[in-house]
Amino acid sequence: MARYLITGIAGFIGSSLAHALLDRGDEVCGVDNLSTGRIQNLSAIRDHIDFRQADLLDLDAMHDACAGMEFVLHQAAIPSVPKSVLDPLGSNRANVDGTLNLLVAARDAKVKRVVYAASSSAYGDTPTLPKHEDMCPNPISPYAVAKLASEHYMISFYRCYGLESVCLRYFNIFGPRQDPTSPYSGVLAKFITLMLRGEQPTMFGDGSQSRDFNYIDNAVSANLLACAAPAEECAGRVFNVATGQRVTLNQTFQALKKLTGYSGEAKHDPERASDIKHSLADISKAAKHLQYRPLVDFESGLAKTVQWYRDSQ
Ligand code: UD1
Repeated sequence: MARYLITGIAGFIGSSLAHALLDRGDEVCGVDNLSTGRIQNLSAIRDHIDFRQADLLDLDAMHDACAGMEFVLHQAAIPSVPKSVLDPLGSNRANVDGTLNLLVAARDAKVKRVVYAASSSAYGDTPTLPKHEDMCPNPISPYAVAKLASEHYMISFYRCYGLESVCLRYFNIFGPRQDPTSPYSGVLAKFITLMLRGEQPTMFGDGSQSRDFNYIDNAVSANLLACAAPAEECAGRVFNVATGQRVTLNQTFQALKKLTGYSGEAKHDPERASDIKHSLADISKAAKHLQYRPLVDFESGLAKTVQWYRDSQ
């Protein structure tokens, strides 16, 4: 049994990590400022975790939260490309200043390891596919810049202070509990909930853009592996977390029509600012050093996700 702090515990990924850790018998403490996280994501486990409503920018609260922790799973962020284009200062405060505060607190508390939710957006719109970790980053949006800057802070804290840090570059993660209600929500959460209600989803662009959509269980597994791996395999390093397969938005929409029973067509709006066209990961580095393997493929993950939204309507 180990003690874990999850930042952003009320979010989609943070709450999924909390459920998985409790299932294994680990101790879970979590912080969330509830800016994008939802307390109902914790309703089934609220009595089994030490939850604190706190902001990453509150250094005292981070010191308190990190005390006695072995691992920190840092998921808290304002996780949106378009929102960062509208509000780059807010994105930087939450995604860079917040991370730096947390790292200082984790270092002072002598936490063993911090695993960070980095982002595939760091690669930007490079034409080379698949994207591998040795490629020169080319971030486009302020969100991507912020996520990449925090990766560098993670690595710096390993080099300067010996705080073991592992950066997991998430590609598009989807699954149960992903919030569909914000204009900045991930495309699958939005499409599924609309289509189940018989409402028309909006595609930005012609739908030929592609993504390496990765089911949440795979991301959870990557975090657990990143905590368990020997330091010489992972500390101060960056790993892609994805499936190594990509689908276009048009293909995804057709699959969702079958799963949801929606028979209409999608509306088309202009492409989104700072959107990237294609995204596909090389996952061989995580396979080699973390023993990471996708446990759930895209089709099965999509079916499970549609079922979850159907059941929770
Ligand atoms: C990006 C990052 C990801 C990051 C996430 C946080 C990449 C490859 N991925 O995801 O690492 O964690 O931001 O937000 O950069 N779309 C529609 N209709 C909608 C919503 C979206 O057509 O209603 C389209 C978007 O224009 C985009 C695609 O669907 O082309 C995926 O969008 P989204 O789910 O928002 O994620 P990314 O921006 O790819």
